[in-house]
Amino acid sequence: MPNFEQIFGVPQQTQASAPGRVNLLGEHTDYNDGFVLPTAIPQRTIVGLGYSSDSQHHFYSQELDQKVSISEKNGNPEGFASYIFGCIQVLERDGYQIPPLNLYVTSSVPMGSGLSSSAALEVATLRGLRQLLNLNIDDIQIAQFGQQAEIQYAGVQCGIMDQMASSLADTNSMLFLDTRTLERRVLPFPAGAEILVIDSGVPRTLAGSGYNQRRAECEAAARLLQVKALRDIADPHAVEILPEPLRRRARHVITENNRVLEAVKIVETFHQTSLHDETSLHRFGELMNASHASLRDDYEVSVPALDTLVAMLQETPGVFGARLTGAGFGGACVALVEEGKADGIASNILTRYENAGYKGNILVPEIP
Ligand code: GLA
Repeated sequence: MPNFEQIFGVPQQTQASAPGRVNLLGEHTDYNDGFVLPTAIPQRTIVGLGYSSDSQHHFYSQELDQKVSISEKNGNPEGFASYIFGCIQVLERDGYQIPPLNLYVTSSVPMGSGLSSSAALEVATLRGLRQLLNLNIDDIQIAQFGQQAEIQYAGVQCGIMDQMASSLADTNSMLFLDTRTLERRVLPFPAGAEILVIDSGVPRTLAGSGYNQRRAECEAAARLLQVKALRDIADPHAVEILPEPLRRRARHVITENNRVLEAVKIVETFHQTSLHDETSLHRFGELMNASHASLRDDYEVSVPALDTLVAMLQETPGVFGARLTGAGFGGACVALVEEGKADGIASNILTRYENAGYKGNILVPEIP
């Protein structure tokens, strides 16, 4: 693969990176001002930067082997370049001066699996710009600028979870985030458990999916319930007055927020006692299973391949719980499994999944 200097003819000046994320609980809650519980995955996006010697931006993606040049006239590129150019544009709109740049991207975050490859690209790009240009912006602002880039230039009305997770989470802990106040707590992984992420092999295109439609339905439900956002309701019975499908959509969001809060209590108890509590791990797993059922039946963002994979995981000894993760409509599943068993369970499930006619892929634990 050609390196930065071979592509752009000048040496790289700085480099930055950011991870993808997997969400353990709290799906489709962030744009309802709710609660989320993601963690970073080992896969990262790396961005090399330097000044361009002409008046254009030049972006290169190693995975796509594609170079895109952008001048004033041909703005608004598509694909990977739209996220990078989006970040530059949100910074410029905020008053920052961004000179013409060369930017080289390489990434091990799988695209289209619901593991936030776009947030990783945005956060890595913004970190790189902060370094190169000495910008006075903090990690929260990086997440917010990244989210704006995604909304305004990639056309997805996303919440803030992915960019916050990419900017603030690490692979050794969970990030409990209140998406309304941005208050957050870093929580340890439940003792005695580890995570397993398997891609269903069914790709998903977020912008082309029902994501924006779900968001609009939630906003309509909140208006009818006369609250600022669905986060303001804790009692699932409140949805009974809503027409369908708003009733089911709102019920998912309300019960999902409650599941996150219960899971956080479980984990904090772990933290206080540092004891391995089998019952609590099973309860955490049950919450994940209930989340999947809710995403499938009430939110209607699952697909048969994800349901098959999740069911296989849920009935496997050593698995505490499993669910689809990310926006849905395809992508990956996450499971909480007994510590030390993830590799064995993953290869067993993969074979069964292939025998059922699908083609999956193990993403975490990462195969070196
Ligand atoms: C995508 C969005 C996030 C969040 C999830 C669903 O990943 O980017 O903001 O809404 O879907 O939980």
